[in-house]
Amino acid sequence: MAFDVTPLPYADTALEPAVSANTLSFHHGKHHKAYIDKMNAAIEGTDLADKPMEEIIAAARGTNQGLFNNAAQSWNHGFYWHSLAEDGGTPTDELKSMIDSAFGSTEELLKQLQDRGAGHFASGWVWLAVKDGALTIEETHDGDTLADKDGVLPLLVIDLWEHAYYLDHQNARPAYLKAVTEGGKLNWGFAAENLARGTTWTYPA
Ligand code: FE2
Repeated sequence: MAFDVTPLPYADTALEPAVSANTLSFHHGKHHKAYIDKMNAAIEGTDLADKPMEEIIAAARGTNQGLFNNAAQSWNHGFYWHSLAEDGGTPTDELKSMIDSAFGSTEELLKQLQDRGAGHFASGWVWLAVKDGALTIEETHDGDTLADKDGVLPLLVIDLWEHAYYLDHQNARPAYLKAVTEGGKLNWGFAAENLARGTTWTYPA
């Protein structure tokens, strides 16, 4: 079984001006595809070839860094496309209550996501997740992922790699983070789905 790049769940102009169609053409069409192609090549003919992506990530973690990087990046990008939307809406009542408990207000959460994302050194990902029953902001470095982490339920993620924002915002990562978060591009419906399911999203087989 080989994995495919998850189709974008919106038009390529849907995330503008935060993320342009030009960025998506490279980010989705080239970067994500390259991770998928390299992972598929690495698992072909092995006993991981017919396993779910989450099992491949867990099996490669700590034992096969090359496969881990490509599998985790494949998963993270699929999760990232769903974490964004043309009109991301607002948090459901349940989420809003959890946001207020953990951060005081949605505005404060968005500010902390921007601050943590901007302060993250080099490449990585900033996540909204549930841990010990409460919302938390998590960071992972390079290709690392929450896909196979026990006790942490990822709700949303923002890509912090330069390829996610350089064409639109050049080196200004804070401008990208502000445009995504305050520009209404965070997909609160997807966050609510993840919360309701209670188990980590799975990459389409
Ligand atoms: Fe990326």
